[in-house]
Amino acid sequence: MRKLALTTVAVASVALLALSGCSSRTDAPASTGAAAGFAADSLIGVALPSKTSENWVLAGGLFESGLEKAGFKGDVQYAGASTIVKDQQDQISAMVTNGAKVIIVGAADGGQLSTQVKAAHDAGAVVIAYDRLILNTDSVDYYVAFDNFKVGELQGQALLDGLAAKGKGPHNIELFSGSSDDANSAVFFNGAMSVLQPKIDDGTLVVGSGQTDIKQTATAGWKAENAQSRMDSLLTSTYSDKSIDGVLSPNDTLARAIITSVKAAGKPIPVVTGQDSEVESVKSIMAGEQYSTINKDTRLLVAQAIKMVQQLQGGVEVEVNDTKSYDNGKKIVPSYLLPPVIVTKENAAKAYANDPTLEPLTK
Ligand code: BGC
Repeated sequence: MRKLALTTVAVASVALLALSGCSSRTDAPASTGAAAGFAADSLIGVALPSKTSENWVLAGGLFESGLEKAGFKGDVQYAGASTIVKDQQDQISAMVTNGAKVIIVGAADGGQLSTQVKAAHDAGAVVIAYDRLILNTDSVDYYVAFDNFKVGELQGQALLDGLAAKGKGPHNIELFSGSSDDANSAVFFNGAMSVLQPKIDDGTLVVGSGQTDIKQTATAGWKAENAQSRMDSLLTSTYSDKSIDGVLSPNDTLARAIITSVKAAGKPIPVVTGQDSEVESVKSIMAGEQYSTINKDTRLLVAQAIKMVQQLQGGVEVEVNDTKSYDNGKKIVPSYLLPPVIVTKENAAKAYANDPTLEPLTK
């Protein structure tokens, strides 16, 4: 199924093709990688991208408190809003200079960190890619993330389910993807297209604009205003005389921007997917506007990353559960993948039962 998707979906680079071209997964826990004991109060660097969605805001606070609780000295940095790539490169270099033993990186641009992570390696630090893979380098040791291809599959299936509830079709849809400098964007899109392409091919779904290439659907910087203006243009160019029934949106921030655009045009809200369980989107789902989101509990992902640091500190092998899927163009990066959960109005209360912020919104 994944191979089929790859023949029909254009992606940005060979590395990203490899990323999503995985044909099988190892689900059984396995272990790999060299372990490296170090002092229990060592410096651990965490370099996060800019705050393009709530998950990044949450991650910073959780890393600070979690690393401190585990006895480490944490140095958590965000790339700024304007010179994002350079900021992150400089932050990683400073962590290396300051003697960090492990550097955890949520890449601002996964293709532009090879010099910095090589320097980290040369200095003896272990590099963990967090949420987003770092591309085209041997110097990334581990990857910890929610299963991104699965996220895309769940989004594609949610779009189909939401549309099926409206009738048999054909349904008019549009496709949005994330920022092309984020390695996750193509993986999400390819996962979704593995589900949607057969329905486009058999005529159940009609992409009104004809824009099905990831280059056409991309949203620079994951910015809401870019998704909103593309949606505004699509509504004018393609939907002045027909309805739009569904929109594949890769995350919640963009989903709300798309809904804003449709409302401003005075059209009924289509089935719109999302990701991240952002507070405003959970409210929107409960109000019957946004159709779905994905729960990727940031608390679990940060906890898993800190567990890896503790295993490295203790000199034991780092636990991974996937050694096949995430090829960064230079190596297959040993990964610990967590399962994403699809959330609609129907299962929201259950999905957020353990979340003190979101659970009250589902009442
Ligand atoms: C993350 C998503 C997030 C997006 C924009 C992606 O790499 O996996 O959860 O919505 O970045 O911040």
